[in-house]
Amino acid sequence: MGEIRTIGLLTSGGDAPGMNPCIRAIVRTATAEGINVIGIRRGYQGLINGDFYQMDSNDVNGLSCKGGTILYTARSDEFRTDAGLEKAANVCRDLRLDGLIAIGGDGTMKGAAELAKRGVKVVVIPGTIDKDMGCTEYTIGFDTASNTAIEAIDKLHDTGQSHERVSVVQVMGRHAGHLALYIGLASGASAVLLPEKEFDLEEDVISVIRRGCLYGRRHHIVVVAEGVGKLTELSKKIEEGTGLETRVTVLGYIQRGGAPSARDRVCGCMMGVRALDCLKNPKLGNRVIIVKNGTFNDMPLEDAVDHARVFNESMFVACDRIDNSYQSKKR
Ligand code: F6P
Repeated sequence: MGEIRTIGLLTSGGDAPGMNPCIRAIVRTATAEGINVIGIRRGYQGLINGDFYQMDSNDVNGLSCKGGTILYTARSDEFRTDAGLEKAANVCRDLRLDGLIAIGGDGTMKGAAELAKRGVKVVVIPGTIDKDMGCTEYTIGFDTASNTAIEAIDKLHDTGQSHERVSVVQVMGRHAGHLALYIGLASGASAVLLPEKEFDLEEDVISVIRRGCLYGRRHHIVVVAEGVGKLTELSKKIEEGTGLETRVTVLGYIQRGGAPSARDRVCGCMMGVRALDCLKNPKLGNRVIIVKNGTFNDMPLEDAVDHARVFNESMFVACDRIDNSYQSKKR
């Protein structure tokens, strides 16, 4: 391992539960090894603005159980411009950073790749509830967000049962349906609508609910990924087609908050320590920390950026088969 003296640390894009334990792991490990950690507030915009401070071990006390990010986060339009990128790279040089750790999602990774082209050594830690980065099997925050959504949907089950209603629940995920699929499977949804899969509302939702009604089940959950859109229109059509009242719930930002689950805490710690090791290793260039075959690993940033997203087909098939189970009972 080579000598590094100072590193920068930032969180960028949407916050995700587990970012704070990850920050804690990096700061604690680095300071114990005599490495200075410059905390950059408000992501890449903070880098451009020179919004930073020297972190020490005490700054991260009690962070294991805290959602959000003490470094704040932002989405920066300026950072997408050449001038903004130049400014950010110059700040890294002025600070004499031996490397920068950026925790965030797809946009954060693309931003890091641009900084790397301008000579900044970067390591990216995937942190997003969307789990929409093809390079890794897991991103910090996904587990907590799923659990939060499932807990909320369990409550919707209760009121839906009392009123014999269909709950149409929108979950986050931006353009990807990973979160919705996982939540749909875990919450026993009658149907899950995803941007990756074309659907026929009559066949895939309305008739499934109607069959359920034949067997006395008059409350249903339909999970809709944010990327599908047209929530109100879908809900109206479901109501018309099934004859059951429908209600729409948008889970929204509650999925991004809350104490991180054990998985997200552990993932934050493991990824944080590995990111530091990547920066310390002079043989390694710019890296992304990943989970591959269930194990923590790292890969070159330039390969990770181009990695296609992987859709979990077998989970979709399982979800679809369970949703349609009323069909077999009818025979
Ligand atoms: O990327 C995480 C995420 O929560 C997405 O699921 C959602 O589409 C987006 O961020 C919302 O972004 P913002 O916080 O900028 O409104």
